[in-house]
Amino acid sequence: MTDPMETPAWAELTTLAKRDLPLKALIEQDRTYLRLSAPGISADFSRQRVDTHVFQSLIELIHQTHVTELRDSMFSGEPINSTEERSVLHVALRVPLNQHVTVKDVDLSVGVHLVLDRMRNFSDQVRSGQWTGVTGKSINRVINIGIGGSDLGPAMACRALHDFVTPEISFAFVSNVDPNDLKEALEDSDPERTLFIIVSKTFTTEETMLNAQAAKSWILKALPQLDSIDIVQQHFVAVSTNSLRVTDFGINLTNMFGFWDWVGGRYSMVSAVGLSTMIAIGSANFNDMLRGFHEMDEHFRTSPPHQNMPMLMGALAVWNRDFLNIETTAVLPYSHYLGRFPAYLQQLTMESNGKRVRKDGSLVHYNTGGIYWGEPGTNGQHSFYQLLHQGTSIVACDFIVVARENGDATRQQSILVANALAQASVLSIGVTRQELNAGGNAPDLLAHKVMPGNRPVSLLMIDKLDPHSLGSLVALYEHSVFTQGAIWGINSFDQWGVELGKKVASGIAHSFSDNSLIQDFDASTQYSIKEYLRINPQN
Ligand code: F6P
Repeated sequence: MTDPMETPAWAELTTLAKRDLPLKALIEQDRTYLRLSAPGISADFSRQRVDTHVFQSLIELIHQTHVTELRDSMFSGEPINSTEERSVLHVALRVPLNQHVTVKDVDLSVGVHLVLDRMRNFSDQVRSGQWTGVTGKSINRVINIGIGGSDLGPAMACRALHDFVTPEISFAFVSNVDPNDLKEALEDSDPERTLFIIVSKTFTTEETMLNAQAAKSWILKALPQLDSIDIVQQHFVAVSTNSLRVTDFGINLTNMFGFWDWVGGRYSMVSAVGLSTMIAIGSANFNDMLRGFHEMDEHFRTSPPHQNMPMLMGALAVWNRDFLNIETTAVLPYSHYLGRFPAYLQQLTMESNGKRVRKDGSLVHYNTGGIYWGEPGTNGQHSFYQLLHQGTSIVACDFIVVARENGDATRQQSILVANALAQASVLSIGVTRQELNAGGNAPDLLAHKVMPGNRPVSLLMIDKLDPHSLGSLVALYEHSVFTQGAIWGINSFDQWGVELGKKVASGIAHSFSDNSLIQDFDASTQYSIKEYLRINPQN
């Protein structure tokens, strides 16, 4: 396999990175090649520290690391998730009815549309009140129980699409095994009118299973006069690939919505995992979201690298990470409703590209996945932006700007957008001591007021936050993550790093009741276990 560091483009980029490339000067040059549009989104990368030489070398790097070949392999269903020998076909979830994805003579789109039809049918029934709780009352509360990819996508989408969510039903997303998470969701719930959607690809994830059992106990206790089988039948549905475990839990398979091992958890938000989203926004809006995803998929699949928004975004992320040594990216949505988007992206980016070995098992000797974090923009301005502007760490910033508000608060909306544009400008061009001096600032404060600028900024602008644009936005990041992983030669689709912690947690939990097991752990862990048991001996 290709080692990216061995490519001529990598060597060229290393040389190019040694030059001083001040954004202030770059921004004034004609760099229209850094302004791209794709369905639903325009991207301005002109605040990246990139000139024509860097741009061309990044395009070369894409070619020399065979990104487009890997992309084509993904779309054709080859098992590019090599450690799990699986295809990576979340794009097949988004193909319209008249198109087909066939892998080894099996038309996957048939199964995809069958599940979508069942989801439509079910969500229509819940939304119309035709699906009732066991006592015949309509559903007015949906609680999604799942974690990671089985929570973050639906939770993020339900908030992002707030203006499209039915007012008849309230939604809660329970992920944490901390009992307070479920407790809080149940506080506002009427057992007779609550529907639980248990979402777990494996149906073995401990947090989800414990929360699902606790939810079951809550509802059975609340309706003691009724048959428990009937209660579970009307109040629990499952989203999973594991029918055996779903049946064990007591959920009828007619109330299970399946998906496939070729859909990774963090890429699953429009599979059956999106059932709560569909109930929230309705199937027509869900279709619009699928369309947004698919249009970005097609843009990624067919555009040449230099006009390919996700591919270029991914290559720029590699440039910042490996050549400019920038470790973190702040995701800054200027939209209240995109409040959960940074959390969603954290799993997508870091579970995908937080890897230190390449596909062939050899250690990488370059940097891979950066750290993604963030908060809605204006709140961040009054909190961590000080460090972004004047701190000693350079943070790359992704601004996400929504041009049109769905409501009529146009004055607030224009102030919001003005703030985003102002911050993007100041972060990239800053202000010098001379400029401050000429502006009549007090001499003893000049040093404190200097803004070094030169922080790389991407500005994504979406017309309006709706299902279509949300689909495009998520697919944009998915394919950018893909591009980064392809350049680095890592497998972006497994997550072995999360397994050991789960196993150790289970061992520690056992040691609470069987103290002879405590000695199996390292000295610090033994100390913490004993300290915990001293404070809380009731285990
Ligand atoms: O532990 C990580 C992980 O496997 C994620 O990749 C996944 O999204 C999450 O756990 C939940 O898994 P499941 O859907 O199987 O419960």
